[in-house]
Amino acid sequence: MSRKKTILVIEDDIQYGELLKDALVHFGYDVMLAYSATGGMDIIRQEKLDLIISDINMPGINGFQLAERLLKMFLDIPLILITGLDDLKLIKRALAVGVSDYLVKPIKLDELPVVLEKGFERRRLESKKLQDNKAEILLKALKALMRALDAKDHYTCGHSQRVAALAMLMAEVLGLDAEQKYTLHLGAYLHDIGKIGMPDGILKKSDSLEDFEYDIAKDHPIIGCQIIGEISELSEVASIVRHHHERYDGTGYPDGLKGEAIPFFARILSIVDCYEALISDRTYRKGLTKAEALAIIQRDAGSYFDPELVEIFVKAMNSGLAGRVIREFGESDLYDLPAGQTF
Ligand SMILES: [Fe+2]
Repeated sequence: MSRKKTILVIEDDIQYGELLKDALVHFGYDVMLAYSATGGMDIIRQEKLDLIISDINMPGINGFQLAERLLKMFLDIPLILITGLDDLKLIKRALAVGVSDYLVKPIKLDELPVVLEKGFERRRLESKKLQDNKAEILLKALKALMRALDAKDHYTCGHSQRVAALAMLMAEVLGLDAEQKYTLHLGAYLHDIGKIGMPDGILKKSDSLEDFEYDIAKDHPIIGCQIIGEISELSEVASIVRHHHERYDGTGYPDGLKGEAIPFFARILSIVDCYEALISDRTYRKGLTKAEALAIIQRDAGSYFDPELVEIFVKAMNSGLAGRVIREFGESDLYDLPAGQTF
């Protein structure tokens, strides 16, 4: 059962306050009563309230001032003002300062629940909007972070975007829907975001890594998963990132997952990530040709990679679709990257 909602009634007319309280209790709410705005403010500071009903005219502060104070305290509790017919002209002003709704005296008590539920619903929608905005801002920050990471090392610059483009080729041949494509694309684009905390000496090292350096490097999927996991809407993306270095035979990291226990999108990602790394030039070696890289991927099917997905990938790379999809995504400014980076 959901928690009872707590409503604060601020009414200097004691009898009227009691009447309202009885009606609200009857409708199933918990009610606190204050006979002055000052008393009301004390309760607001101390209690967790779901809604406030206040008379517009009271000694001390009026309904407007109360709304302004709530705003200053960053409280988003819906405030409903009780007005007389004479005060109606003030209502427009009151709504402009954040008052949610108003009730005109004499209040029709049986209509109270409808007005209150409207107030709760509005708050629920507002906080959802706020949540969505927060997620959007965080996502923008992640993409900026990713660009910073890509820019750190110009030899791997554009790697993430090219991996994302290759992932979209797989999405196309696998017939994924728009939402799945978005998840896979984001996972592919952000897969190495956990490297942001890695020392440059390890990140840019061209020789093979010492054991301790390798241990640090191996943490990047976990760190990436934690960073992305901050956005609850992106939990699936976080899981793809965590598992992009798992191997099909269970010898990968961080969790040593095996076969189909590895998330499907992470299995796709590990193939396209490896392929992109093989064909790219590095400080210490020239990139392999497409045929050489595909041969290596095929050699490791069943040990490192999901063999069915390897087969699909090789077919896709040799199809006419590859150039079009990769160009489309590789050059898109979907992630605010400078256009013109070709695969
Ligand atoms: Fe990685």
